[in-house]
Amino acid sequence: MGEGAFTADGCSVEVYRLLPPGDEPGIVHAAVPAGASILELGSGAGRVTHALLELGHPVVAVDDSPEMLAHVRAETVCSKIEDLRLGRVFDLVLLGSHLVNTAAAADRAAFLATARAHVAPGGRVLVEWHPPEWFDSVRNGQGGELGEVDVRLWRIVRDGDLLSAVVRYSAGVRWWSQAFTCRRLDSKALDAALTSAGLVFDRWCAEDRTWFSAHPE
Ligand SMILES: C[S@@+](CC[C@H](N)C(=O)[O-])C[C@H]1O[C@@H](n2cnc3c(N)ncnc32)[C@H](O)[C@@H]1O
Repeated sequence: MGEGAFTADGCSVEVYRLLPPGDEPGIVHAAVPAGASILELGSGAGRVTHALLELGHPVVAVDDSPEMLAHVRAETVCSKIEDLRLGRVFDLVLLGSHLVNTAAAADRAAFLATARAHVAPGGRVLVEWHPPEWFDSVRNGQGGELGEVDVRLWRIVRDGDLLSAVVRYSAGVRWWSQAFTCRRLDSKALDAALTSAGLVFDRWCAEDRTWFSAHPE
């Protein structure tokens, strides 16, 4: 694991404080009108949240880790995504960090149902996923430098539609690791999951098809 606090799903709080915002805020910003309100599911320590605030979006950040949320400079809600029912709607609901590729179909259905329950009429759900081809192409040692953190995947094991691996993070002499398992969704499986949640695929929001939007039926 490494040093410091960890979330229920094994993320290091320290790592997510060190990682830079990357391309994500720009992708989100480009997908919505100026000033659009955003509900961010699984916000972590605010890596993307803070950049979205600077881009002019009011953001409500949701996570089940109080240790992560303690670093977020926005309205926060400490909750499991599956259980969240705020009774408010947003122009955009953001489901990033490949959460939709969770191994359990019931969790995926619950994440998408929560997204659907919080999207305004005419609004969008924006999802970051591992496209099907990633499951074939990903290799041990793949990764690189993100800010001051070296991030690499190791111990990749494929089992049908499931892929398990360990992410190894290092910054100077410090290191952390996180094991995860994710599930390949082909376009049929993705459409079925969206439909069950009352959502419809809208469009790709990144050239490499790692982000897409969906809208309410
Ligand atoms: C990989 S981290 C990414 C954090 C942030 N999205 C980012 O990109 O910097 C995933 C975050 O989602 C949260 N998370 C995972 N599953 C969750 C769930 N079912 N309910 C609430 N939060 C969850 C974790 O606690 C963690 O902070």
